[in-house]
Amino acid sequence: MLTGAGISAESGVPTFRDADGLWEGHRVEDVATPEAYDLKPTTVHRFYDARRAALLLVEPNQAHHALARLEESFGEQLLVVTQNIDDLHERAGSSRVLHMHGELNSALCRGCRQRSPWTSDLVDHPPCPRCGVSELRPDVVWFGEIPYEMERIHHALLRADLFVSIGTSGAVYPAAGFVQAAASYGARTLELNLQPSEGTDFFAEARHGPAGELVPAWVESLLSR
Ligand code: APR
Repeated sequence: MLTGAGISAESGVPTFRDADGLWEGHRVEDVATPEAYDLKPTTVHRFYDARRAALLLVEPNQAHHALARLEESFGEQLLVVTQNIDDLHERAGSSRVLHMHGELNSALCRGCRQRSPWTSDLVDHPPCPRCGVSELRPDVVWFGEIPYEMERIHHALLRADLFVSIGTSGAVYPAAGFVQAAASYGARTLELNLQPSEGTDFFAEARHGPAGELVPAWVESLLSR
């Protein structure tokens, strides 16, 4: 299972590419690159601090809850790989979640390279809880950086019987290439997205509509078999 911003849209978390390529008024490249952070750390911190604070105001939706129900039945056979940096899968009850693009509720120290759970602001340069150096940055994978967990993801793609992609535009690699990898290793592939994604033709089957409706319906059909 691969999820993207579209699964959290109905919770009120804005997607990246649905409003003229703008992300809450910022161009993605103005806030989501290491270069942007080097040039304007305060802007980048404020942006992610605001998003971290906004997480407290949103709740998981029916799509997150449906995937948590699926895990209850499928256990270790189900893995959610998400590009999202929110914590809505976990708050819905999913426990097997890999955040390939990092997490808002985590900070990465540029001094000791350790990741620490983090739920408050970073803009005032707080010290790293591990090494004490005031070099914490958002623990988010920016453009040009290597996503987390690629080895485990590759292993899961190799073994998958079914690969489902939910709420992602298929515009950003390596996630956009997972469907072809899974299919080449023998998985059945299904897209659940508001509209055809850039990679929609790579899927054996595609259903289009809001995730809050499509995902629960698909999960119920799977569980009632
Ligand atoms: N239900 C289902 N799909 C939806 C919904 C919805 N309610 N609302 C929007 N979508 C779809 C859009 O049609 C779009 O195809 O979700 C997709 C969101 O695409 P993006 O905004 O590009 O988000 P995502 O694919 O997760 O972006 C990938 O890009 O900027 C980077 O690192 C960032 O993780 C992010 C990555």
